[in-house]
Amino acid sequence: MDFINQMEPWFDEREADAVNAYLRSGGWVTEFRKTREFEAAIAAFTGAKHCSVVSNGTVSLTLALLACGVCPGDEVLVPDYTMVATPNSVQPTGAKVVFVDVECGSLCMDFDRMVAAVTPRTKAVMLVTLNGRAPARLPEFVRFCREHGLFLVEDAAQSLGSRQNGRHLGLFGDIGSFSFSAPKVISTGQGGALVTDNPKLFAAIEKLRDFGREKPGADHYLTMGWNCKFTDLQAIIGLVQMEKLQWRVERKKAIYARYQEQLRGVPGIEWIPTNLKDTSPWFIDVLVDPARREALIAHLKARQIGSRPFYPALHAEPVYARKESHPVAEEIARRGLWLPSASKLTDAQIDIICTAVREFAKA
Ligand SMILES: Cc1ncc(COP(=O)(O)O)c(C=O)c1O
Repeated sequence: MDFINQMEPWFDEREADAVNAYLRSGGWVTEFRKTREFEAAIAAFTGAKHCSVVSNGTVSLTLALLACGVCPGDEVLVPDYTMVATPNSVQPTGAKVVFVDVECGSLCMDFDRMVAAVTPRTKAVMLVTLNGRAPARLPEFVRFCREHGLFLVEDAAQSLGSRQNGRHLGLFGDIGSFSFSAPKVISTGQGGALVTDNPKLFAAIEKLRDFGREKPGADHYLTMGWNCKFTDLQAIIGLVQMEKLQWRVERKKAIYARYQEQLRGVPGIEWIPTNLKDTSPWFIDVLVDPARREALIAHLKARQIGSRPFYPALHAEPVYARKESHPVAEEIARRGLWLPSASKLTDAQIDIICTAVREFAKA
């Protein structure tokens, strides 16, 4: 049996043909019309008024914060449990990262702890909708930030295709950010997108990502800016991937449901509450006994099955080394495990994986 990766991108002849045709057409590869088409496709899918694509989903977060005017002396609230790109994206702005614990229900930032962490220096809240799940109190985040003059930046890197009450995640706050890195639901190898309904923030982002230019190609510089541009070559792939997105969103839900059905009642496997009507889980995430997690990973690996432990609680990582306590983040970091989650997983592969997990639980 071939090794089943925990995650992998999925391209086929359609992307290959599209890239081939584009190169033969004499395109300049750098960003141009295909990039604008890709942005329009993301805006249409999510329902955003504006979309800017950039080089990746980390740079996008930094640009979002800079567009909101985040600068040295400010504080930015970030969940302690997230991919490290979220806090790291704050560093180039000169602002201070303030870690906030997450809630058990959704693994997203805890609303009450967020409120308690606000100081007169707080400028922005980065709400990460991890694995497509949004906190039930999302409307309260929006209201609180509005009432207190805080920017709400949604890191929706893992949430393309997920909604709350019909509204796409990434559109609740001032700016939402997506990633198209290799393991994401659709990929352009690397890439990120920012969505917003606010024309001023959109204009700021457009300048920041293009050397501060007044408009593309014009050498008149209104603000500081950098080269964070995309390429048409990526956009060509992205446009084909977008055509597959809705199917993948449904497939992710079906994969999650099949795992749940197959692993129902298995001792030592705990599920995170997931509303599959709204949520398209990017990864199959379960909580296991921390004392047996390494053994389960090894058991699966011996059967040609990849898995991966959750991210660590970030405040304790050497790069931040804060003497703080965020008990929920610490606990889920110890217990969490990602099982194979690629959209191309077959039902037969899921059944093999679940048999291996059941076997382990019985031993
Ligand atoms: C929550 C979150 N934020 C940001 C990023 C960074 O995205 P990129 O890898 O495109 O820089 C990721 C990537 O996995 C992510 O999961």
